[in-house]
Amino acid sequence: MSWWQTAVFYQIYPRSFLDTDGDGVGDLEGIRRQLDHLVWLGVDALWISPFFRSPMKDCGYDVSDYCDVDPLFGTLADFDRLLAEAHARGLRVIIDWVPNHTSDQHPWFREARASRRSRKRDWYVWRDGSPDRPPNNWRAAFPKGPAWTWDEATGQWYLHLFLPEQPDLNWANPEVVAAMHDTLRFWLDRGVDGFRMDVIHCIGKDPALPDVPAERAIIPACALNDVESTHGLLRDIRRVLDAYPGERVMVGEVGVPWTEIVARYYGNGDELHLAFNFPPIFAPWDAVVWRAQVERAAAELDPRGAWPTWALSNHDNRRHRTRYGSEARARAAAVLMLGLRGSPFLYAGEEIGLEDAVVPAARVLDPGGRDGCRAPIPWEAGPTHGWRTADPWLPWPPDAQRRNVAALRDDPASILHLYRRLIKARRASPALQEGSFARLDSPAGVLAWERAFAGDRRIVLVNFTGEPAVLALPGAWNVEIASDGRGEAAPFSGSLRPDAALVLRPAREPE
Ligand code: NOJ
Repeated sequence: MSWWQTAVFYQIYPRSFLDTDGDGVGDLEGIRRQLDHLVWLGVDALWISPFFRSPMKDCGYDVSDYCDVDPLFGTLADFDRLLAEAHARGLRVIIDWVPNHTSDQHPWFREARASRRSRKRDWYVWRDGSPDRPPNNWRAAFPKGPAWTWDEATGQWYLHLFLPEQPDLNWANPEVVAAMHDTLRFWLDRGVDGFRMDVIHCIGKDPALPDVPAERAIIPACALNDVESTHGLLRDIRRVLDAYPGERVMVGEVGVPWTEIVARYYGNGDELHLAFNFPPIFAPWDAVVWRAQVERAAAELDPRGAWPTWALSNHDNRRHRTRYGSEARARAAAVLMLGLRGSPFLYAGEEIGLEDAVVPAARVLDPGGRDGCRAPIPWEAGPTHGWRTADPWLPWPPDAQRRNVAALRDDPASILHLYRRLIKARRASPALQEGSFARLDSPAGVLAWERAFAGDRRIVLVNFTGEPAVLALPGAWNVEIASDGRGEAAPFSGSLRPDAALVLRPAREPE
């Protein structure tokens, strides 16, 4: 197995993690100071969302220099120190690479925009036309509207699948490919363990830029783009990483809502190592729907030898604690995610059961409406919650006086301790880390499966309903982990409490 198959990943949105310089925005030093806490929690690898130089129109996903740290987050020296100290603790670090678009303030785009005859004009996607009619019907992800902006000065349209301040790079131009490969090498040379690759399925474009079918024209183009040329580009990117020692990983954001398409971006083991699969994030908390998601992922990925990923929350969607409506369900969901076959990606704050913040209209910042899940992490009670200011860039999430890291660390019955026990149990069990997956018969509203590897076995039971359930299992099993913390180490009684989930281990382990 590779490290990225057995690892539990932990996503840090740096603005929201911990501020140490008093500007109300989290920073790299804040991450460094919490490394011991992350080791205590037991995660194996960190994914740090963008911290590169940026005008911050999309909170750093609009990069103006791929090879430097934005002063808001610190310095390159801060990054090197963070990486060295993470590695010294056995934590891997992957960073967020944003290849589809730059900021409009990136020197490449400024040069491209300066004139039609600019040497860098073709580094971006320009089209002729009349100012009242965009070149095709593609829509931007946000704000609502066309994925094209008319450049008055040079009389052409440029393409942007996201904000107008995020022009799309033209990956059909070999100079762009070479320059972007160099940005990877810059960080590989510094020792990063890999990359989360932003909307990686978008880098190839059909050169004809055809309209999307009318019935899909309402869907943002970034959720539809899927062309063959991306796969060749990915194989080239993979070769850049493979030239480095150690197993540097490519985790791709393939933001199309169809698992069968996501699966193709693993290639034949020569493209992405891991791909995010978003349909489960959009799925309601329902046993029938989740069974379909789990079986779909297996059906699409297993035949390719592709390894699944599981995430319930991230910086682009409402937190699952908010979506599912209770802490009991969020706890059961943690058992689900850490009990499935594949690499789990936690989103910082879910381990303390955070809900989205309520963001008053006057404080809304994100053009994509995603502020709530980006609220700052409360590390302790008190007015500043461990930050340097009581008034950070976004409001605190609900109940931060009680629901904060310090308070939950002091409470062995808390959701934080549940995550810690789950991660520890997973690390100790080859079945949970790398074992097979076989669904077991279960009553309506319950999902049950067995994981097995070389004599090691676990059963996972998840009750998606608010009613108790009864299950007959062959053999004798003990409760290893209970989402509500009750009855651990005792024999499994055959009944499952409402909104609860269990990890079971054989009562008699093989010799
Ligand atoms: C996906 C990222 O997760 C999101 O936050 C960002 O706005 C878009 N890509 C554009 O980079």
